Amino acid sequence: MQISRYDDSVKFDALLLPLREEDCANLPDLSDEVRGIVSYLVSRRDFTGKKGSAVRVPMSGSPANVYLIGLGRKAKCTANVVRESLASALRTTGRQHNKSAYVVLSHLKGYDGLGFAFGEASGFCGYVFDKYKAKGDDYEPFALTHIYSDVFDDGINTGLKFAEAQIYSREIANEPGCAVWPAVMAEKAQSLADECGLKCEVWDEERLRAENAGGILAVGSGSKNPPRLIHLTYKPENAAKKIAVVGKGITFDSGGLNIKPDSYMLTMKGDKTGACNVLGIMKGVASLGLNVEVHGFLTCAENMPSGSSYRPDDIITARNGKTIEINNTDAEGRLVLADALCVASELKPDVIIDMATLTGACAVALGKYRAGLFCNDDELAGKILASSERRGEPYWRMPLEDENIAESLKSPYADLVNSGERYGGAIFAALFLKEFVADGIAWAHMDIAGVDFNDKERGIYPKGASAFGVRTCLDYIAGL
Ligand code: BES
Ligand code: MN
Ligand code: ZN
Repeated sequence: MQISRYDDSVKFDALLLPLREEDCANLPDLSDEVRGIVSYLVSRRDFTGKKGSAVRVPMSGSPANVYLIGLGRKAKCTANVVRESLASALRTTGRQHNKSAYVVLSHLKGYDGLGFAFGEASGFCGYVFDKYKAKGDDYEPFALTHIYSDVFDDGINTGLKFAEAQIYSREIANEPGCAVWPAVMAEKAQSLADECGLKCEVWDEERLRAENAGGILAVGSGSKNPPRLIHLTYKPENAAKKIAVVGKGITFDSGGLNIKPDSYMLTMKGDKTGACNVLGIMKGVASLGLNVEVHGFLTCAENMPSGSSYRPDDIITARNGKTIEINNTDAEGRLVLADALCVASELKPDVIIDMATLTGACAVALGKYRAGLFCNDDELAGKILASSERRGEPYWRMPLEDENIAESLKSPYADLVNSGERYGGAIFAALFLKEFVADGIAWAHMDIAGVDFNDKERGIYPKGASAFGVRTCLDYIAGL
């Protein structure tokens, strides 16, 4: 998408006019023709600026269309409301055959993050996952290629980079299990590394054995596609901080021998979203040139039932020597994360953030639009929640202190069991992960089960992978 500054000589197909309710009484600068028709619609109350409302006005000439976009009341209209409204309006604009659009924004100046909102929305608007669909006669490609605006600042470029990072994650997360398995994740990581100048190290099965990564090996043992632990490094000179981001990369979660019922198994291609997000974050960090040393870990395996699968009752040993009694092979995410958290801890980073589609329990507790945040450090939690608020990606802080649930981690035969009772399942999983984070490291765990995929298009989110988590993490890292 090409974004340029608007000037009077520019010809465009569509004019987008985002208006708060209060703006309807006091319209911004517009050509006489456009002002005439907008005033008329406003006077008839066909358009009032109500949030979520949108009116298309066909015109004869240039612009061919005027789109009125309601932003709601001024008091409630944040930069995120602008971002979401613009993203859906631009998407509609592109689908309705407009090749170029002029977005009028100068009347909204004063919003912190206005340029960012516009840049991100512009970067997002055309994305769909349709590579497997026939492009027949009825196929209408997204037409929009040029967007102009009367507000032009550095935030636009940052917003575009954020959008690109998220699209990168989505593009891989949307792929089915027959196209992406652990070795493919490693190839994708390597090509990202080549593109962005990152270091990429891949541990294959043999290396995982040599490194005592018993959790990753156990989970991967049932699949003909062996597991991988992938480590990407972005290391600028004189970095201010060192952080590690760890993503769960189960390329398909059938449940293993504790096989999932049919309806639960469907959508489990999305169980690699944490790892895909780490790829997106690494791309974002590199393209923004952030001054932070960032280590990205993708802990990848395919959880399948077979004669070589790990079993219920098995006792495995994680990289830090802790033994785990398996009581459910479907609680596999925490096992691949266990080893990866050990490896990340060994680098002695200031902060570790992990992201995982970890528990159905978290989705039950918080719904499909809000992720769970578990954190052993109040300052870190505060910063992450501030980033989440600023970038419009909601989280809810969950408890990490619970003596009773901690007690249920104990096994009669090993140091830990991998799953507990159904109640409090998300907290159990977080407490399990905590056993693999070295003491003294500030750590945050994001449970993104449920928010990883959208069943239908919703505001800024297209149907399919959401890349939920990328925006918040990038914003947090950018602020270090
Ligand atoms: N990948 C699933 C969790 C999940 C559920 C993600 C729904 C997205 C949507 C995870 O590996 C899993 O199977 N968790 C089990 C844990 C249980 C066996 C302790 C669950 O949540 O039921
Ligand atoms: Mn599972
Ligand atoms: Zn899983």
